Amino acid sequence: MGVYAEILPPETPAESLKDVAGIILSGGPQSVYDEGSPNADPEIFNLGIPVMGLCYGLHWMTQTLGGKVSPGKVKEYGKTEIEIVGGGGEVLNIEKQKCIVWMSHGDEASELPPGFELIATSEACKNAAFADLNKNFYALQFHPEVTHSEYGEEMLKNFVDLCNADAWSMSGYKDRISQEILDKVGDRKVFMLVSGGVDSTVAFTLLNQVLGADRVQGLLVDHGLMRKGEVEYIRQAFEDLGMHNLRIEEASDEFMTNLQGVYEPEAKRKIIGDTFLAVQKRVSEEMNLRVEDGWMLGQGTIYPDTIETGATKHSDQIKTHHNRVEAVQQMIDAGLVIEPLEDLYKDEVRELGEELGLPHELVWRHPFPGPGLGVRILCVQENSQAPSAKSQIAASSSVLPVKSVGVQGDGRTYRNALALFSEDPCSIPAEHWDFATEIPNKNPEISRVLQCLSQSEIPDVILSPGYISPYRANLLREADAIVMEEMLNADLYSSVWQFPVVLIPCGIEEGSESIVLRPIESTDAMTANASHLPTEVLQKMTDRIMQIEDIDLVFLDLTNKPPGTIEWE
Ligand code: XMP
Repeated sequence: MGVYAEILPPETPAESLKDVAGIILSGGPQSVYDEGSPNADPEIFNLGIPVMGLCYGLHWMTQTLGGKVSPGKVKEYGKTEIEIVGGGGEVLNIEKQKCIVWMSHGDEASELPPGFELIATSEACKNAAFADLNKNFYALQFHPEVTHSEYGEEMLKNFVDLCNADAWSMSGYKDRISQEILDKVGDRKVFMLVSGGVDSTVAFTLLNQVLGADRVQGLLVDHGLMRKGEVEYIRQAFEDLGMHNLRIEEASDEFMTNLQGVYEPEAKRKIIGDTFLAVQKRVSEEMNLRVEDGWMLGQGTIYPDTIETGATKHSDQIKTHHNRVEAVQQMIDAGLVIEPLEDLYKDEVRELGEELGLPHELVWRHPFPGPGLGVRILCVQENSQAPSAKSQIAASSSVLPVKSVGVQGDGRTYRNALALFSEDPCSIPAEHWDFATEIPNKNPEISRVLQCLSQSEIPDVILSPGYISPYRANLLREADAIVMEEMLNADLYSSVWQFPVVLIPCGIEEGSESIVLRPIESTDAMTANASHLPTEVLQKMTDRIMQIEDIDLVFLDLTNKPPGTIEWE
């Protein structure tokens, strides 16, 4: 929005907020009636500045200012249409009277506080937004901050304009962060793991430029969970940039050994994170890069990573980011880690990357998770995940016997996926897209809705227990390479923000597997829309993937985030 903003804990005393231009109270997973739910200092309402509460922020504001909060009739997650009433105040002053917004809530305001009037309403939530127009207090049940709220950005901009805040821009960021890096690193040197993803590439380049190549050493660990041809691509890209301080360590055997017999997603993330550290420790000892010799660890952690791990006191832990496993946390606590991008969102990291002179193609690569294909190979120990069944939920559908992670009301959920079948499988019926929002909202056991792309008949799907192995990694690598190739051929690569391809341990025959395509549109990974790809492209991908031995079925994930997450675990 072009203004300087900080994120602070809710209990920050109003006394210390005297100089701020305005306050936004964020959403969160709790109910105001939960014991220990977050409370802000009520004195913020006496500072004479605009305050806007979003979702939980609205509930707290309502309760604190004398209104009433009650559990909503339906829990609502996803797209909703609101109607703006009474002009909408300055914040909802947009060109349309009706627009689509994102809701993700259980509670709602049943009575407005004194002095407030209704400014927007929706079918499922009467008091969708209300305001005290004299005091510039606004309360929004929906989330204007997520990309998929139409006019959401404009609503935030309207609020920011009300605040008259100081200007801020990314162009000053590089100078400021350069000074911070110099201060924090002092006379030490930085050792950094580089994955070839946007974040670590930008962080590594920034550290190279600020500290000089002789004070930075990069390490790329090949964990055997890289994409096809990935290691060579990254090596070449850095060589072309004249950065020769990257060592490539082939360690796939070590990772595969440590992952043997491991099924649980969080355990996999932890093992991958810990093995990274073990390899890094070994290499750093070999290269004499010890802490005692003045080396510290650099990481490309960005802002959403820290939020999703629950690094802020009240945001619910959705999953542990690999940059925040215990061993790294201990190093952070000891002041041995530098994370120069930790305050930035993805789009800002890309902007910085271009400012640093990185090639456009590298900066605009799809994000790829640090644990690589490891979080896209679903593992199952035994037949414990609910049977495959033709379901009662929708006609021509089947509940798949695998569970995946989702996020509903900012909380973490592990639920089954529902597969839909139709006549012409790669041409997705319009109502299937609607089901993808409706079904997870109404059925607590379902977190995702898929379209089967490879056949029309509903098969009996068998779960085949399996963990991460070189064989399964290869299956996924092949499918993933086909997908990326077809996206480039169709000139669609840059039209999606990210395109996970997931291997799920179930198929029609015992021991066979299936592939899920998960193309999404997003700008910051906090929310996402499932992409609508052309039928011919889906058909080509499906035909080619079906030729891979042991792949029985191909699915397309139709679910937005929320209620699904981008990755499957
Ligand atoms: P979700 O699945 O939470 O993903 O919607 C949000 C973004 O985070 C990426 N992601 C990860 N990145 N290590 C990473 O470096 C991880 O363990 C990890 N898990 C998810 C995901 O690819 C998406 O861009």
